[in-house]
Amino acid sequence: MCVFCLIHYRRVFSTVYFFYIHACTYVTSFVITVKAFLRAWDDLCGATGGRPTLVIPHGKEFLLSPLSFKGPCKSKNLWIQLQGTLVAPGSMNAWDDNNKEKWIQFMQVNGLTIYGGGQIDGQGKIWWDYCQALSFHSCNNLRVSGLQHVNSQKNHISINGCNDVDISHLKITAPEESPNTDGIDISASNHLQIHDSFIGTGDDCVAINGFSSYINISRVLCGPGHGISIGSLGKGGAYETVEEVHVEDCTFKGTMNGARIKTWKGGRGYARKISFERIRMINAGNPIIIDQTYVNRMAAASRDVEISDVSYKGVIGSSTDARAVYFNCGDGAGCRNIVVEDVEMTSAVAGKQLFAVCNNAHGTSSADRSPRVPCLLP
Ligand SMILES: *[C@@H]1O[C@H](CO)[C@@H](O)[C@H](O)[C@H]1NC(C)=O
Repeated sequence: MCVFCLIHYRRVFSTVYFFYIHACTYVTSFVITVKAFLRAWDDLCGATGGRPTLVIPHGKEFLLSPLSFKGPCKSKNLWIQLQGTLVAPGSMNAWDDNNKEKWIQFMQVNGLTIYGGGQIDGQGKIWWDYCQALSFHSCNNLRVSGLQHVNSQKNHISINGCNDVDISHLKITAPEESPNTDGIDISASNHLQIHDSFIGTGDDCVAINGFSSYINISRVLCGPGHGISIGSLGKGGAYETVEEVHVEDCTFKGTMNGARIKTWKGGRGYARKISFERIRMINAGNPIIIDQTYVNRMAAASRDVEISDVSYKGVIGSSTDARAVYFNCGDGAGCRNIVVEDVEMTSAVAGKQLFAVCNNAHGTSSADRSPRVPCLLP
């Protein structure tokens, strides 16, 4: 390791930019790296034609202080081939006051693909709950695949205001006890696919927040963590909507929750057209849960975010909570058209019988399964 590294990039072919590091494999100065990255970004973003690609080479580590890559860019599509490792600085000094909440941010960049097998290391232990590691704001037609994300300071990946997003083949890991380290956090975004990934963190594997729709999640292994969550919606009386969320062929292993929908008392809006199909629970807590009583001591209003058309089909495996199905709906409209079919779970605790509890939940369930769900109202 050397202290004074030089970092350049050079152009190979017409629009492929390759980072070149002189004399070392670990760039220890974030001032130098940020400068080099921003220069490379300017060229990449301004490139026209060909296949504008920035290659961050294998076997190298780049220490990066917070930075934003801003569009709009000239080319319809851009590629970042991340093979090496991006590392957040090990002390807070690199975080200036204006830039507390985001580490690596892309804004208004359309047609971006990030791939390449590299790693993004947030060094989270130093400032957990402080900052999002990789965030995308207003990035349409976004692809992120084949990366490893470790120890984010807070959310590993945040998607806000983006349409047409495909996220796949990621490995996202943080310790089970790390606070607010969501895997992928989605808000105000439409038409997203998350698939074929492993997410094990200290908070939600995937969190779907307000004004999001057409979100498909498939073949994701989640755990440890708090499960796949819709919400919490309606905080402080807010109007929020989520619809068309489909979770299929996912596994929850040792998670605190499984398929969860949570709303704040006093909120407005709706969560509807949501399905969980072919889900496997391995020692999961609260495998199926809707909770409309999210704490908000300020809210007096007895209205709720409306929950309707939610189905659970083919949920199998083991629950650490005897109350394996819990529909705790508000006393206003309650939850409508909840469908439970082919749920076949056993207790992870020997000798315990699983059961379901409903409050003001309307819907149907197929008979003779475990737990039986006789508590749904017509
Ligand atoms: C998302 O999932 C739904 C329900 O399974 C399916 O009908 C739809 O085609 C999927 N969308 C995409 C883009 O895969």
